[in-house]
Amino acid sequence: MEYTLIATATFGLEKVVANELKELGYEELKIENGKVTFKGDEMDIVTCNMWLRTADRVLIKMAEFKAESFEDLFQGTLAVEWGDIIPITGFMHVTGKSVKSKLYSVPDCQSIVKKAVVDAMKRKYRRDLFPENGVEYKIEVGILKDTVTLTLDTSGTGLHKRGYREMAGIAPMKETLAAALVLLSKWEPGNLLADPFCGSGTIAIEAAMIGKNIAPGLNRSFVSEQWDIIPQDLWQDIRKFARNSINDKEFRILASDISGKVVKTARENAKKAGVEDYIAFQKLDVADFSSKKKRGYIITNPPYGERIGQLNEVENLYKTMGNTFKKLNDWSYFVITSYENFEKCFGKKSDKNRKLYNGRLKCYFYQYFAPKEDKSYNYKNA
Ligand SMILES: C[S@@+](CC[C@H](N)C(=O)[O-])C[C@H]1O[C@@H](n2cnc3c(N)ncnc32)[C@H](O)[C@@H]1O
Repeated sequence: MEYTLIATATFGLEKVVANELKELGYEELKIENGKVTFKGDEMDIVTCNMWLRTADRVLIKMAEFKAESFEDLFQGTLAVEWGDIIPITGFMHVTGKSVKSKLYSVPDCQSIVKKAVVDAMKRKYRRDLFPENGVEYKIEVGILKDTVTLTLDTSGTGLHKRGYREMAGIAPMKETLAAALVLLSKWEPGNLLADPFCGSGTIAIEAAMIGKNIAPGLNRSFVSEQWDIIPQDLWQDIRKFARNSINDKEFRILASDISGKVVKTARENAKKAGVEDYIAFQKLDVADFSSKKKRGYIITNPPYGERIGQLNEVENLYKTMGNTFKKLNDWSYFVITSYENFEKCFGKKSDKNRKLYNGRLKCYFYQYFAPKEDKSYNYKNA
């Protein structure tokens, strides 16, 4: 069956998610705030859950309609054939959000949608009672400026949970954001990569997974794996394909942090992700970071001052970073921080910056590119 699918994205990452979808072969993409919409079938639901590194979730869009009253909401929801996807035993869990709309009471909207979904199920199955003791079908009612979007979540746990990071350091970054930073940097495995504020190792591990072409969903499960609409062998085939897609590239990523404890955690996480052979972990103050390599990449997420450490400490840290990175002449470096005076403290204006959100924090991803004359570096599309 053909569905309208939505890959949800953190604000600022929509184009990165769209690029990933293009790489997977999807062509007609609609990019909006927080989401990319496209068409696909059951196989695409599996593929996208398995392979998207930067999307938060994959949803099936069930309906979109205008609603200014509870009756509009009820009728619009009732018109959908929910029973085509949800079985008799399905656990129908409705979540909601409403922005700038006449229907603003989210709990009321949730109950109306639930009632209408159950009525549609009664129509389809010709029965009155649904035990709801089976697999979860999470329905979201999203209302924006009186337009209702009804979706079903195929991912379950958010896609950032790859299954390797049970332990996190201080202020860990979502795996989806870390993967996005690596993709935005255009790093490729032939080049040296370092994260001198590695914390729980998220950036290094995501980079290693990208380098080895390890599907981010390979070692986790998805709620729709238990859905009747997706044949089990599709999941098996796509997992098998993903396992066979892991390449034999060899590369080295340097991951260091001032805290020995977090370095230990990072190493454990890398082991769980199956990439420990590609990352060299070290307890190191950024002030002591150096490299004999002429070229390389740094992608890093230093403390911001908001969540950990004090502002002036962070300002001094950024000065130290500036002095350290200055010595790495032909390197490219990429720094994400919420601290707005970063460039001033760091001592150099970035070639490009990009607004992104790390959780709720508005951040900038400052990008410094290596000198252009080297032909092997193509920054035009960075
Ligand atoms: C925002 S956290 C990095 C989080 C990481 N991206 C993750 O996903 O877990 C910043 C890290 O910088 C480390 N740090 C603070 N000062 C440092 C310094 N002078 N040199 C190296 N690391 C430092 C902290 O120990 C902390 O782990």
